[in-house]
Amino acid sequence: MVENRIGILGSGDVGRALGRGFARHGWDVMLGTRSPDALEQWADETTGTVSVGTFDEAASHGDIVVLAVLGEAAEAVVDMAGPENFEGKLVLDATNPLEFSEGEAHLLYGGTDSLGERIQARIPDASVVKCFNTVTNSQMIDPEFDAETPPMLICGDDPWAKERTEEMLVELGWPGAMDVGDIKSARYLEAIVPLWVRVGSNLGTWSHAFKAVQ
Ligand SMILES: NC(=O)c1ccc[n+]([C@@H]2O[C@H](COP(=O)([O-])OP(=O)(O)OC[C@H]3O[C@@H](n4cnc5c(N)ncnc54)[C@H](OP(=O)(O)O)[C@@H]3O)[C@@H](O)[C@H]2O)c1
Repeated sequence: MVENRIGILGSGDVGRALGRGFARHGWDVMLGTRSPDALEQWADETTGTVSVGTFDEAASHGDIVVLAVLGEAAEAVVDMAGPENFEGKLVLDATNPLEFSEGEAHLLYGGTDSLGERIQARIPDASVVKCFNTVTNSQMIDPEFDAETPPMLICGDDPWAKERTEEMLVELGWPGAMDVGDIKSARYLEAIVPLWVRVGSNLGTWSHAFKAVQ
């Protein structure tokens, strides 16, 4: 069976950018939100096969599910969506456990914990891959960097899920993925985001990404 239905939980900049991008690449997209009526106009104006539903409708719709909600609310959103709607699926986790104050991004927790691990623990029958969280929404699909496009930084416990993620990333315009390990590596993929914000402030750019070179 060819997977072509994607459920995107989140209607902010990330949810909408991913929704437009996946639809452009021929996916059947459903965006999940607490307020589907508020997104009807977005769906009408977006080219491709796009619909809007509740979090549980979007999770159930997807052969693959993307989590793209406010970090603080992400665990509650998984519960609202119904953990059974994620069973056996690849779940791409784009979230970051951040709060913003005094012009800075701060991690809500980290070091020995991460949102990626918390999400995987909440839906143990799904394969969570941390993906998209280290780049800005406008670069998530068909990225355009001044320099060579780096591979997307990803992590997760399931090797098959990471292979599938890389295949999908190539389809979406990335050269591939850099697998940085099991889901515990989400601690570090999340922790580099405050650094990404500081680098952006200092360079005056918001389209940058990190790359490991050797
Ligand atoms: N912005 C970026 O470029 C970027 C880049 C990489 C990663 N990220 C990460 O991606 C995620 C989404 O970011 P974003 O910029 O699109 O916007 P956001 O404001 O972080 O998230 C908006 C989404 O969160 C949901 N939400 C907020 N509070 C909620 C609550 N109390 N209960 C349930 N749902 C709630 C909203 O639901 P409704 O639809 O119901 O309003 C909406 O779908 C975040 O975790 C962020 O750190 C963002």
